[in-house]
Amino acid sequence: MHQDIKEILFTEAQIKQRVQELGRAITRDYAGKPVVLCGILKGAVTFFTDLARTIEAPVQFDFMSCSSYGDGTTSSGSLTIRKDLDTDVRGKDLLVVEDIIDTGVTLSHLVPLLQERGARSVKLATLLSKPSRRQVEVPVTYNGFEIPDAFVVGYGLDYAGLYRNLPYIGVLKENVYQA
Ligand code: XMP
Ligand code: MG
Repeated sequence: MHQDIKEILFTEAQIKQRVQELGRAITRDYAGKPVVLCGILKGAVTFFTDLARTIEAPVQFDFMSCSSYGDGTTSSGSLTIRKDLDTDVRGKDLLVVEDIIDTGVTLSHLVPLLQERGARSVKLATLLSKPSRRQVEVPVTYNGFEIPDAFVVGYGLDYAGLYRNLPYIGVLKENVYQA
């Protein structure tokens, strides 16, 4: 285990098994219909690539980089898009792939935007969710794991840009924040 990690929440094997379960559910639900996987950079990349390989349907890849800025205490704020999708989403079935849903603010802005652009459907897949932190309800169709309010890293998730390459999901030691 990495020296900065206090506790492993989900091992590589546990993640793999859960991702396969989500992939089976997605395969069943889309029933051979094409789906555009929209990955939210950068945290969702690891989940995205593993999930995509478990889906048996015609899949397209696209990516977006965005974040929400508010005052941190309310569900207001707006969406800042740093990199937009390349796809014309009109008439397409979209599956937004996110690493973690925390307050829900980011996706509460993104989903209506994609609907306004004319997507036929917009569903959400997230590896992790922190329900106790939610400020805005977002309808998540595929949820990997619910976790308590702890800052987690690994399997795509970072602290200060690091730890994304860890194959498991763990809680950071406090002294890493304080340093
Ligand atoms: P919302 O809008 O749902 O934002 O509050 C979700 C985004 O917040 C980031 N986030 C985390 N990133 N470990 C991380 O590495 C965490 O524990 C964590 N909690 C929230 C993340 O960028 C996510 O997309
Ligand atoms: Mg993110």
